[in-house]
Formats: sequence, structure tokens, C-alpha cells
Amino acid sequence: MTTNMDDEMLSTSAVNDPYGYLGGLRATDPVYWNARYRSWVLTRHADVSVAMTDTRFSSDRIAPVIARERARARPDLDLIETFELLDRWLVFRDPPEHTRFRRLVHKAFSPRIIASMRGEVERVADDLVDAARVQADASDGVIDLIREVAFPLPAIVIASMLGVPAQDRDRFKDWSDDISALVFGALDDPGRHSRARLGMMELVNYISSLLDRVREAPDDHLASALVQATDGDESLTDDELIAICVNLLFGGHETTTNLIANSVLAFIEHPDQADLLRADTSLAGAAIEEMLRFDGPAKSVVRIAAEDIEMGDKTIRAGDRVFVMLAGANRDPDVFEDPDRFDITRKGGGHLGFGVGVHYCLGATLARLEGTVVVPRLLERFPEMELADEELEWDRVILTRGMKRLPVRLNAS
Ligand code: HEM
Repeated sequence: MTTNMDDEMLSTSAVNDPYGYLGGLRATDPVYWNARYRSWVLTRHADVSVAMTDTRFSSDRIAPVIARERARARPDLDLIETFELLDRWLVFRDPPEHTRFRRLVHKAFSPRIIASMRGEVERVADDLVDAARVQADASDGVIDLIREVAFPLPAIVIASMLGVPAQDRDRFKDWSDDISALVFGALDDPGRHSRARLGMMELVNYISSLLDRVREAPDDHLASALVQATDGDESLTDDELIAICVNLLFGGHETTTNLIANSVLAFIEHPDQADLLRADTSLAGAAIEEMLRFDGPAKSVVRIAAEDIEMGDKTIRAGDRVFVMLAGANRDPDVFEDPDRFDITRKGGGHLGFGVGVHYCLGATLARLEGTVVVPRLLERFPEMELADEELEWDRVILTRGMKRLPVRLNAS
């Protein structure tokens, strides 16, 4: 069937309400060819699950870009160099290479080590919430919750976990913003390739010297644990060490910022659910799961068909790009009763906010820890928190779901 929704993927209405747009696709054309992006768009929970667990859908979407660029008459060498670095990230690798790489990383970045971070996460959250209060007092009670809390929290936590000294942490914001423009593809930003390359190079140099330092003087931080991780006689190569540190710093940042901010927004818009959580903080874990389902930070992931694949009544051709819409799957009425309702007492699980299969988010335990620590604290400390500006600006990108700012008044005016 034909649908004229090609240009609407990043229209203002689809950016503001992706669920309405994706729900329309799911109902009319769930395996949809978007001619403008020359990509398939999957919106059903069942199809999304298949695309993330079936090895015919490859995660290596970087190698084809490099090959295409190399084949051009005047290839962009900056672009090639940056993409070659990205190509080593865990998230872009396929088995069996991915299997070995992930096993080694998991030795160092284990749920036990992450659980041991609870005290540190609580301290950082308390400090940021206190500072937000002070900032609000100095600015008519209004703060940007992203700038004051949701952005710094995950940045401080992952940098401190890795062993990055406090005075160096601000530099990560600039590098991370530059790389983000490339990975998450801000379409309206023409300078993104050269900026991403510079940001990536500086970050890689920084990480290399951090790794040199811990090789000489091992400590009890994650960078040191990654250097020491072994499985039989295997260990991570230098390239892999740099790639995973960058991937952790980067992958753990913007996503968790958006989890915290989107959660706070959902609770402001659903005060009955905020009351429920305040009355029973043991609901915090369930609340974060519902948040990941209802308005999670990862709107989509990308796969490349490794061979021709039949899906629905369509044939996805080898080499085709596929947008695997987690945001579509998470509101699928075939799986979730009344899917557009935000309900922190919802039972049953099944959301795909952290993906599924071999690439299931490595940082899920850390993200859950950060979310369950900071969101209830904010609701508890600022029970009258309200939006200070109804016009929210959402990032105009296909892969993630986040706001540029979240202006809130901490006490009702
Ligand atoms: C709420 C916050 C987060 C969300 C929604 C999220 C989401 C995801 C998703 C959907 C994937 C699968 C990607 C794919 O299949 O292509 C993924 C993978 C990954 N995430 Fe997260 N993530 C979050 C936080 C974190 C944190 C805190 C870290 C680390 C500090 C992290 C590190 C990674 C890594 C390294 C991978 C690649 C795993 C692999 O390929 O084996 N993420 N994440």
C-alpha cells in the first residue's frame, strides 16, 4: 500500500508526538518503506523483536558508510577516519567478534560493580538536587532541570566510575555534543562531520592517556578493571579498550539524561502517578520500567539486512537499512493494554527500551540505578514542581527522544 508519511518522520508533529505517528504506521503499514530515508521502518513489537534477535539483521551499519565514502571520486577523509573509530564500538559489532568483546567488557562492567556505585550515585544526586534548589532561589524559582540535574548526573557518575579526575569532566560535554551530532544525526547541522572528527580525536587522545596512566598505576576504577579483564588468555586490545571507554562515556550519557528528564516530565503531566510513587517509594523500580516503555530515550536502533528477508508481506533486500522503532514496539496494543496510559503499577514487563538480544544495553543496571535514585528524590523534594514553559522543544532526530531544555518551577507560584 502507499502511504504519504515519508516526509513526516521528522515533522514537528511526529517529533513532538512520535507515538501518534508510529501508531498510525503500525496500524496501516507496519513494515513500511520510507522512500525519503531509503529505509524500512518497523513499528510492531513482534517485528522489532525479530529484527533485534535475528542475525540476518546486522548491527554493522558503519562499514557500509565507509565503503560508500571510499568509492566516491573525492572521499571525505575526515568522515572516513571518524567512522573507522566508531566502527570499533561494541554496539556496531556483529557476532562472533561482538561475543568475545562483550564477554571481556562484562568482566569489568558487571552488575556487581555497578551495584557498588549506589552510595556514589546517591551522593551525586543529593548534591545536584541541593544545588538545583539554590539555583532556583536565585532565578525566580525556575530552573532548567536538564542543565542542573539530568545532564550532570550521568556524566559525573560514568566519568567517576572510569576514573576521570573531576577537573577534566567538563571537557566531556563538548566532545560528547560533537560526537552526538554525528551518531544521532542532527539533519540540519552541516558542520557535523568535521566537528565530530575533532571531538572524537580529542576524546580518543584523552582516553589513551588515561589508559596509559592506569597501566602504570592500576587503581580500583573501571578503566583499570577493563585493562586487567581477561578470559582465558584473551584480553581487550588497545583499540577495543579505547572504543569501549568512549562507547561507555558516550552511550551512558545522553540516554540517561533523557531518561531522567522524560521521567520528570511524565510525572509532572500525571500528578496521580507522582502521588503514588511519593506514597510508596518501593514502586521506583516499576516506575522506571514504565518510563522506559512510555517515553524512553531510545526511539529507534538501526540494522542492515545481511540478506533478503521476508517480513509481513514485504521483502527487505540485502543491504537495506532498517529503523527498528523501539518507541513503536513499546506502545503496541497487541502487547500492552491501553498502551498510551502512563501507569507505574503496570504488570507484565516486555518493554524494549533497552533493546533485546545480544546488544541488550550493557548499561541498563547503571541507568536503572541512576533513575531510581534521582527521580523519586526530585518528586519528594519538590512536590509542587510544575512546567515553567508549556512549549517544549524535542530533539529533531530519529534515534533518540529527548528535550533541549526542561524548564520547571520547583515550587508552585
Ligand atoms: C536509560 C538509559 C539508556 C538507554 C535507554 C539505553 C538504550 C540502549 C539500547 C536500546 C541499546 C541497544 C542498541 C542496539 O541494539 O543497537 C543499548 C546498548 C548499549 N548501551 Fe545503553 N542505554 C542507556 C544507558 C546506558 C548506560 C548508562 C551505558 C553505560 C554506561 C550504556 C552503554 C551501552 C552499551 C556499551 C551498549 C552496546 C551493547 C552491545 O552492543 O553489546 N547504556 N543501550
